[in-house]
Amino acid sequence: MSRSSFAFPSDSPSHTRTAPLTHARFLTRRDLPALLTLEGEKWDAIQAASSDDLLQRLEDYPSLSTGAFCKSTGTLLASLFMRPVHADFWCHAASWVDCVDSPRPARSHSLFGISLSSSHPSGVEALLEFFWPHALKSGWRHIYLGSPIPGFEGWLRCHRDRSVQDYIALQRAGVPVDPQLRYYHGRGFKDIVCVKPDYFPHARSLDNGVILRGTVPLSLLKPIWKMMPLTSTQRVTRHLVTML
Ligand SMILES: CC(C)(COP(=O)(O)OP(=O)(O)OC[C@H]1O[C@@H](n2cnc3c(N)ncnc32)[C@H](O)[C@@H]1OP(=O)(O)O)[C@@H](O)C(=O)NCCC(=O)NCCS
Repeated sequence: MSRSSFAFPSDSPSHTRTAPLTHARFLTRRDLPALLTLEGEKWDAIQAASSDDLLQRLEDYPSLSTGAFCKSTGTLLASLFMRPVHADFWCHAASWVDCVDSPRPARSHSLFGISLSSSHPSGVEALLEFFWPHALKSGWRHIYLGSPIPGFEGWLRCHRDRSVQDYIALQRAGVPVDPQLRYYHGRGFKDIVCVKPDYFPHARSLDNGVILRGTVPLSLLKPIWKMMPLTSTQRVTRHLVTML
């Protein structure tokens, strides 16, 4: 695996030396048992998607449902489900459920990350790298996601007169203090769009969710990607990823 992510060229350290060799692809119904195992590992009983939820996503958005697998064991390491949204969907959505249920646009350049789950960083890197050429070919420009802020509850205990806005603006050495915002920042999700209270049940975030936006690199060159066959686009992005 090359240094890091795609759309979201990563500032995070390389995991290449210890990383299992990873293969990413679109998910199918056959992946359901593996998806349920990963959900159970990474989310609690309230948060985890049910088998019906997962099947619905696979059926609704087959070209936006991606998974990364360990090449030697076949284990699912990471999954990412997305859906198209209007560019201003976040103005009308109060919670994660609202984002997931927001009207499906006839045409749009924006995606919302319904769910990202990972048990190994190389899985997320492989997913992003895999999806990059597909995103360019399909004309996707922005990817939004709602991030927990797991450091918020602890911070607020020591700063009782401060607000969630104060917390998410906190940076150290130019990167967010919150570990999960920092994680996404390193993957190119640097734009904080807004904070939603009661976004998703998440105790350490006091249920807040921060809507972040990442821009698909090189997506402004849309006419070029439209003309270029997928295999050539893949060759270009594979080459560029090694230089990041
Ligand atoms: C967030 C997630 C997808 C990242 O997966 P990953 O690429 O395999 O990376 P890791 O889990 O090893 O986390 C990498 C770093 O990000 C930071 N981080 C990310 N999420 C964090 C969280 N919830 N709490 C604390 N630190 C977090 C940590 O600093 C970690 O650093 P470390 O290597 O020193 O532990 C994965 O942790 C996950 O599935 N979490 C549960 C579900 C979730 O929160 N999904 C995202 C919702 S938007």
